[in-house]
Amino acid sequence: MKRPNCLEEQEFRIVMNKKLIVANWKMLPQSLAEAQEILEFTNDYLESLNDLSSADSSGGGREFSLVFCPPFVFIEEVAKIIKMSHLEHEAFLGAQDIATDDKRALTGDISGPMLAKLGIQYVIIGHSERRWKLGESDEVVNKKLKLALKNELIPIVCIGEKIKDKNSSKFLEEQVNKTFKDLTADEVGKCIIAYEPVWAISTNPGAKPDTPVSALESISTIKKVLTNNWPLATNHYLYGGSVNSSNVDGFLKEKEINGILVGGASVNKEEFVKILEMAHSIK
Ligand code: PGA
Repeated sequence: MKRPNCLEEQEFRIVMNKKLIVANWKMLPQSLAEAQEILEFTNDYLESLNDLSSADSSGGGREFSLVFCPPFVFIEEVAKIIKMSHLEHEAFLGAQDIATDDKRALTGDISGPMLAKLGIQYVIIGHSERRWKLGESDEVVNKKLKLALKNELIPIVCIGEKIKDKNSSKFLEEQVNKTFKDLTADEVGKCIIAYEPVWAISTNPGAKPDTPVSALESISTIKKVLTNNWPLATNHYLYGGSVNSSNVDGFLKEKEINGILVGGASVNKEEFVKILEMAHSIK
């Protein structure tokens, strides 16, 4: 995977050699004070790890890297907290969405250049809540993906079927082809792919997490489509959908799963730190 320009070589090395834990806060927490609590709790845990491992300032002692994706209204404050705390060397900042244009009258949207200026490094693209609840088409997702890359943000591209059945592989294949349409292999290689089956997302009725074995099968389908069409692209793959401290080790133990995208459990500070503890204990 090529290094996006927004990350220094050292930062990039840290991110890619470790499991990536992306906290997708969605439209939570309800207040900045709660957001601060999550960050402080996480910071305290990381500090305790440092004391134990005498890690260097590059985060050398940990087995994971963090990306916080807060709601837009908290981003600047979260950025400040990260900068002023121990998290500075541990955590990156991500946005949950990006506008379909860099400069245009688009009420309510936030553009790629605005995100980049805030010091954001990552952006979630094509989350299923935007695809299915807000009607974001593959074409819109594709447009957003191109703008994220143009603005040197690292896209975390969500791919996932709505229903698990015999057509799931075909669905994934089509979604991948439309999402990455007209991108070069170089661009595809800059993306992180999050396999997030819609039926596994905790807030959806009857949701239950995928199993690591089944998630790996879907990741392998996605990988096959990507490498067939963009032979030079190598990607990093995350799993997302009802990840919590009881199941996270099953996913992270898999070599082919390079990290997780966590929703609900990432806004519960105790649960989130338990996830980090599990991630840290996996060698
Ligand atoms: P969940 O959400 O962990 O609450 O299932 C994941 C996501 O939607 O990104």
